[in-house]
Amino acid sequence: MLITFEGIDGAGKSTQIRKLTTHLRNQGEEVLTLREPGGTEVAEKIRTILLESRHDITPVGELLLFSASRAELINEVIRPALLEGTTVILDRFFDSTTAYQGYGRGIDLPTLRSIIALSTDGLQPDITFYLDILPEEALIRKFSEKSIPLAFDNEELDRMERSGLDFYQKVHEGYKTIMQQEPSRFVSINARQSIQEIHTLILKTLKGRLPNPLP
Ligand code: ADP
Ligand code: TYD
Repeated sequence: MLITFEGIDGAGKSTQIRKLTTHLRNQGEEVLTLREPGGTEVAEKIRTILLESRHDITPVGELLLFSASRAELINEVIRPALLEGTTVILDRFFDSTTAYQGYGRGIDLPTLRSIIALSTDGLQPDITFYLDILPEEALIRKFSEKSIPLAFDNEELDRMERSGLDFYQKVHEGYKTIMQQEPSRFVSINARQSIQEIHTLILKTLKGRLPNPLP
C-alpha cells in the first residue's frame, strides 16, 4: 500500500508521518517512510541542488530535477518495497509537482502530466492525505521552527521557501483544484487542529484499508 502526504511547507506532514509510522510499527506493520525529493544516493544529490538557496533554476529545470529524483526513488526503493508487501509512506509525491511546478511556476499542465507519467511509470498512491492550511499560517510555523524573522529573503530558508507568498498562494489554490479532480483518492484534513486530533483522524481513515487492518 502506498500512502502519500501533501500540503504546503509547514502544514505538518513530517509530524504526522512520524506519528503514523510509529503507530503502524507498534502494530507489527512493515513500514517504509520516505520523503521527496531524496531517498537514494542520486536523489539526495538532486535534493541538495534543488533546495540549496544559492542556485538559480528555471521552472523547466526544476520540474525535470524533481522528476529525475522521483524516477530514481521509485525504481530503486518504492517498487521493490511494495512488491514485498511493505506499506510505503511518502512525504510528497507527484501531486507536489502538479501544485508547485504546474500551478505555482506555471508550467503547462498537459506537458507536466506527461512528464509525471514518464517519471512514475504510472505508479499511483492508494490514498493521499492533504493537510489543509493557509500559506501564511504554514509559513509562520516554518519561520518560528527556524527561529527567524518573517522575511522571504532570509538566507536560512531553502530555495523553494524563498519563492514568496504569491507563489504559495498559487500552490494552495492548485492543491484545491487537484483534489477536486480526484476526490476518491484524497482525504483533506484541516491542519489547524491539534497534532493529536489530526493523528486520530488519519488512523480512523486508515482503519480497514491497510493489509493488516488496525485493531
Ligand atoms: P511539514 O513537514 O509539512 O513541512 P512539519 O511537520 O515539519 O511540517 O511542521 C512544521 C512546524 O509546525 C513544526 O515546528 C511542527 O512542530 C509544527 N506543527 C506541526 N503540526 C502542527 C499542528 N497541528 N499545530 C501546530 N503546530 C504544528
Ligand atoms: P521539504 O523540506 O522536503 O518539504 P517541507 O518544507 O514541506 O517539509 O522541501 C521540499 C520542497 O520541494 C518543498 O518546498 C516542496 C518542493 N517540491 C516541489 O516543488 N515539487 C515536487 O515535486 C516536490 C516533491 C517537492
